[in-house]
Amino acid sequence: MTAVLEVRDLQKNFGAVIAAKDINVTVNEHEIIGIIGANGAGKTTFVNMVTGYLKPTSGQIEFAGRNIMGLPPRTITNLGISRSFQVPQVFASETVFDNLMMAYAITEASGLELLSPLYNDERAARVDSHLARYQIAEYRNATSSTLPQGVRKLLDIAMAAVSKPTILMLDEPTSGISVEEKFDLMDTIMEALRQDQTTVLFIEHDMEIVERYVSRVLAFYQGRIICDAPVAEALLDPGVREFVIGEEYHRTRTANGNGGDNGGQL
Ligand SMILES: Nc1ncnc2c1ncn2[C@@H]1O[C@H](COP(=O)(O)OP(=O)(O)O)[C@@H](O)[C@H]1O
Ligand SMILES: [Mg+2]
Repeated sequence: MTAVLEVRDLQKNFGAVIAAKDINVTVNEHEIIGIIGANGAGKTTFVNMVTGYLKPTSGQIEFAGRNIMGLPPRTITNLGISRSFQVPQVFASETVFDNLMMAYAITEASGLELLSPLYNDERAARVDSHLARYQIAEYRNATSSTLPQGVRKLLDIAMAAVSKPTILMLDEPTSGISVEEKFDLMDTIMEALRQDQTTVLFIEHDMEIVERYVSRVLAFYQGRIICDAPVAEALLDPGVREFVIGEEYHRTRTANGNGGDNGGQL
């Protein structure tokens, strides 16, 4: 196993609020990791620090043996860690194809090169094969504002993945997606990423998704990682069941109209 990401003693304070503390994680190549935890547990703060969107208060972050603490997000993306946000960040007035072209051009270019023409045949071919891989080719020429939510999510994640990052971090890929659609959406995303052998960390509230797609779980509670274990073990961990699954599983089921009457049991 080759470690690609090493996080040591990471901490983030917002004034008196400690959003992350004592975060120690080693991520190995090709792992699929689920990040779970109740609202406010520090999941997004962790992703924001690794991807350069938030400056840690203290600690260390090494990617492929290189210190990336404090580097700007775009530099980190260019080095090989990409991300998506909970709310898709697509250009609503542009087509699906043009969104992906822009995402791709940005990852290739630096500085003045951004002023050179966006379109070239090689980029277009790459974008079209990417559209096919994410199963959104039929929406190629649709304006992004008209897309169904699931397609917009796929486009957003396809944009984050177009640079073929070593690590992709997804913030709640299934949020806003119906129960009927969620497995198809995840199948498409995970198969696309598997083909590129991408290391994936994704934040997820839905334990059915966690169980099905991840091999390892990082469970956050009040800014700390309370469990880092293989998925089957993590979902049986007493702390995880008390502080993560109980509330969240209940919330998910209630939100889905299932009544949440299972007492938080899996
Ligand atoms: N920009 C910020 N300013 C102040 N407090 C923040 C900020 N971002 C997050 N927090 C606080 O940090 C804690 C962790 O938040 P977050 O990482 O967003 O949680 P999660 O993604 O697990 O729901 C929460 O208490 C939240 O209110
Ligand atoms: Mg969050």
